[in-house]
Amino acid sequence: MQILVTGGLGFIGSHTVVELQAKGFEVVVIDDCSNADEKVLDGIEKISGKKPIFEKLDLKDRGKVEDFFHRYPDVEGVIHFAASKAVGESVEKPLLYYENNIGTLVYILKELSKKNKASFIFSSSCTVYGQADKMPITEDAPVKEAESPYGNTKQIGEEIISDTCKVTPNLNAIALRYFNPMGAHPSAEIGELPIGVPQNLVPFITRTGVGLRKELSVFGDDYPTEDGTCIRDYIYVVDLAKAHVVALERLLASKNPKNYEVFNVGTGKGSSVLEVIGSFEKVYGKKLNYRIVGRRQGDITTAYADTTKANNELGWKSIYSLDDAMESAWKWEQKIRN
Ligand code: WQD
Repeated sequence: MQILVTGGLGFIGSHTVVELQAKGFEVVVIDDCSNADEKVLDGIEKISGKKPIFEKLDLKDRGKVEDFFHRYPDVEGVIHFAASKAVGESVEKPLLYYENNIGTLVYILKELSKKNKASFIFSSSCTVYGQADKMPITEDAPVKEAESPYGNTKQIGEEIISDTCKVTPNLNAIALRYFNPMGAHPSAEIGELPIGVPQNLVPFITRTGVGLRKELSVFGDDYPTEDGTCIRDYIYVVDLAKAHVVALERLLASKNPKNYEVFNVGTGKGSSVLEVIGSFEKVYGKKLNYRIVGRRQGDITTAYADTTKANNELGWKSIYSLDDAMESAWKWEQKIRN
């Protein structure tokens, strides 16, 4: 049996490949290398002693997707990370996001639907909740009007999978709604490698720490929160990667009562921007250079997960703290800068 990981050279994908190989799975990685470097395979090999089979493929090419599944009949499970994920860019280039994030999903589901039994894990996001009314956020919180085409592709993706599973009993799927992934593998052999100016908070902090960025801009401290800055649920990428393996094993072992399920994957704890900065300063050993500026358009105030369903039904729980994750992020930043 083989497991296909699309986008397997990416941040969460590469960490999931490591966890899959640690559990003895034979992994095939597809990546178009548009946002990741093939050298990530060396990092994966250094950690797990094994290099996954790699195919550089553009999943937007339906013929190539069909040909891949024809050449790899033993693929029984797919973990689908491949997607564009920059919220801001999605506003400027919506069609690029709909083609890449929706088109590729449809082609993969078409191939999986032909199999006697197929397991599919979808990389979704807490962004589907928008600003939820109640904290912590449960899976039955209403899906709100997407704030961006990127967020919309996650909502539409979930609906496509749900509709397909309704008429395809042999297709078993789980959507994992990530909160805010951060950090890097403790070995510092793989980690987050944002291209260009980092959009996300943690890589911006570590790049400021290492001197690549002059100062961090804190987007607003006038929110209705304790310290005025936004609250998010920052989850260590290794915890998140392990959740994918647990979810896949659930489907492979047919432990899923329904053939489409959704789980929040977070720590269940909210941290403000200033608290995240505080966590970094602990490992940095000095003050971080930051300035409070205006709010960023589209930011919600608060989001953190109710993880009861994942803990009780999936049998997964995050075990690492914000400080653990931050320590790994800083170690990684220093490693890639040297
Ligand atoms: C976190 C907080 C910012 C940068 C996004 C996507 C989400 C997922 C994770 C893909 C916010 C503040 C940030 C900076 C700052 N991506 N911030 N200065 O926006 O919660 O989620 O990334 O799946 O879908 O929406 O994450 O890291 O961008 O921001 O003050 O330079 O940090 O205002 O409050 P976000 P983020």
